[in-house]
Amino acid sequence: MQDDPYVFRQSAPSIAEYVRLRSTSGLSPRTPEQAAGAVANSWAFCHVRHAPTDTAVAMGRIIGDGGWYFHIADMATLPDHQRRGLGRRILTWLLDEIATRAPANPYVTLMADAPGRPLYRSMGFVPTEPHSIGMRLG
Ligand SMILES: CC(C)(COP(=O)(O)OP(=O)(O)OC[C@H]1O[C@@H](n2cnc3c(N)ncnc32)[C@H](O)[C@@H]1OP(=O)(O)O)[C@@H](O)C(=O)NCCC(=O)NCCS
Repeated sequence: MQDDPYVFRQSAPSIAEYVRLRSTSGLSPRTPEQAAGAVANSWAFCHVRHAPTDTAVAMGRIIGDGGWYFHIADMATLPDHQRRGLGRRILTWLLDEIATRAPANPYVTLMADAPGRPLYRSMGFVPTEPHSIGMRLG
C-alpha cells in the first residue's frame, strides 16, 4: 500500500520500546531488566514501526521450546494505532512462524485479556475451560 505508514519487522523492538509498548497499551509495567530477557530470548518476535515517527507501535512474541509448546505473549498496540489491523498482522505472522518452523501438532496457548479476545477468537483460539484453566503464582 502506497500510503501505509507502517513497517513490519521480523524482530524485537528495543528494550526501551518494549517497556513503553507494554505500559502505554495498558499491560502491567515491566523493568528494563525484565524486558532484556524478553527481547533476547523469545522464540519469535515481531513488531510494527510507524515510519513517520520511527517508533515501535505494536508488537507480539512467542515463548517456545521449538518442539511443541508455544506461548503467545506481549500482544500490544499503542492506543493511537489500534483498530488498524496491526494486532491481526502480528498474530498472523507469529502463527505462520509456528506453522513453518515447528513440528506438526504444536500446542499454542495465550492468556487472553479482554481487549484481545475478539481477535484471538477470530483467529481460532478457544477457551481451555473446563478441561484446564490458566493459573499463575500469586
Ligand atoms: C489486543 C490488541 C493488541 C489488538 O491490537 P489492534 O492492533 O488494535 O488489533 P487489530 O486492529 O488487528 O484488530 C483485530 C481485531 O480485534 C478486535 N478488536 C480490536 N480492538 C477492539 C475493540 N476495542 N473492541 C472490539 N473488538 C476489538 C476486532 O475483531 C478487530 O478486528 P476488526 O477491526 O477487523 O473488527 C490491542 O487492543 C491492545 O494492545 N490492547 C491493550 C493491551 C492488551 O490487552 N493486549 C492483549 C493482551 S492478552
